Amino acid sequence: MDRTAQLIAHRTETSVAYDPAVHAHPLHVGAARVLEQNWTGTSTVPSRGLYPHQWSWDSAFIAIGLRHLSALRAQTELETLLSAQWADGRVPHIVFNPSVPLDAYFPSPDFWRSSTAGRAAGAPRGVETSGIVQPPVHALAAWLVHLADPELSRARGFLARLHPRLAAWHRYLLHRRDLGGGGLASVVHPWEQGMDNAPSWDAALARVTPAPARSFRRADLDHGAPEDRPTDLDYGRYVRLAADYRDRGYRDGTGGSYGDGPSDFAVEDPSFNALLIASEHALARIAHELGAGGTARHARAERLTAALIERLWDPRTGQFLCRDLRGGGLVPERGVSGLIPLLLPTLPRDTVVSLVRTLTGPHFGLGTATRLAPSYDLLGEAFDPHRYWRGPAWFNTNWLLERGLRLHGERERADALRRALLDTAQHSGFAEYVDPYTGEACGATGFGWTAALALDLLHTPTFDLRDMRDKGGDRA
Ligand code: SER
Repeated sequence: MDRTAQLIAHRTETSVAYDPAVHAHPLHVGAARVLEQNWTGTSTVPSRGLYPHQWSWDSAFIAIGLRHLSALRAQTELETLLSAQWADGRVPHIVFNPSVPLDAYFPSPDFWRSSTAGRAAGAPRGVETSGIVQPPVHALAAWLVHLADPELSRARGFLARLHPRLAAWHRYLLHRRDLGGGGLASVVHPWEQGMDNAPSWDAALARVTPAPARSFRRADLDHGAPEDRPTDLDYGRYVRLAADYRDRGYRDGTGGSYGDGPSDFAVEDPSFNALLIASEHALARIAHELGAGGTARHARAERLTAALIERLWDPRTGQFLCRDLRGGGLVPERGVSGLIPLLLPTLPRDTVVSLVRTLTGPHFGLGTATRLAPSYDLLGEAFDPHRYWRGPAWFNTNWLLERGLRLHGERERADALRRALLDTAQHSGFAEYVDPYTGEACGATGFGWTAALALDLLHTPTFDLRDMRDKGGDRA
């Protein structure tokens, strides 16, 4: 057996040194069980019932936690996702598992028809995917997965194989999706940004003619309580937008023009772009590790941070807002998306101070009214503590806020948020999301990224994003 094969065989059994204080912790045991149950052999489903395929940003968050159980599995998770990348660079938001029945999830592969409708955009032939994207958390995840076991990563050429794919992914977003011409990436569907029914989309969605309810059948209501999920009217609009994009061959306009016909929906979102910037910093580190530079990429990440402030910062609310490119201007709804840029290392100090004030003030109530940040303004007219992204607290956004608070020296707040995340994850049965006041479980339980990110917080109590470097690596 050569050295790489030996390493892989060894890592499969015991990937991480055993520490009883952490590994015997009930949270570790419970989270590991969820990740084991959701593992398919090549990737992890977000939830066995509600989401039975591979989801793009879920996989990135899941890999960040999985690295504490098996670095090999975490690498495989990202490799599986990126092997379904399209030739134009896009990473699809769902990679379908062909052994799952078509009616188990809607919209299914026969709706997206990627291998035919997406042919001109370079959809792969051997696998069916959706044609839209999700937030680019992947380079950040790849770098964190590498750091969990650099020896195995180097032996398998993990970063060397992923680097060109991640670079093409970012190129796609920064060039094909700069629909506003201001340097930021736009989303063309609420599913792309990931917070499907956030009130920030209401005005833009109101302009979309819904597909008739009888033209499709939702599968999500077989698994989730209707009052926790988006409405039928929301779904009619999601279907219309996705079908129109498909019928345009999934083509995007470039550089502020809409060469192939405009999408009815085009929004610049703060958290989507903040995650792109964080991933640009991570890609710089990956390039550096591979001896391929990285300084220019850090500089680009800083320019993007400046563009984010210029285009999306709203001093009146003390947070970032969405920019609706079709409706014109900033959307006056306070969503948690507008706080996620706290994660960025080169954010000006006064912006950090405002964001922390907003997070802990009456609209999000962190540390006073709530223990986890809600997805939407507690005082907003559309607030609903149970309905998906219209109020409930989610674990990925709170993980990102914890990282941001710690990065900017807010240690006590970060510690309190970490404790609340660990406690709520465990007591909710690793729920998909929770009532932000009571911590009551909503949506699915046994949810992949909830288990993974709780595991990450358990294993890295004082982790600071500025320190995410390997020996000899550089820093942002
Ligand atoms: N979040 C969407 C769903 O609920 C799709 O990505 O199915």
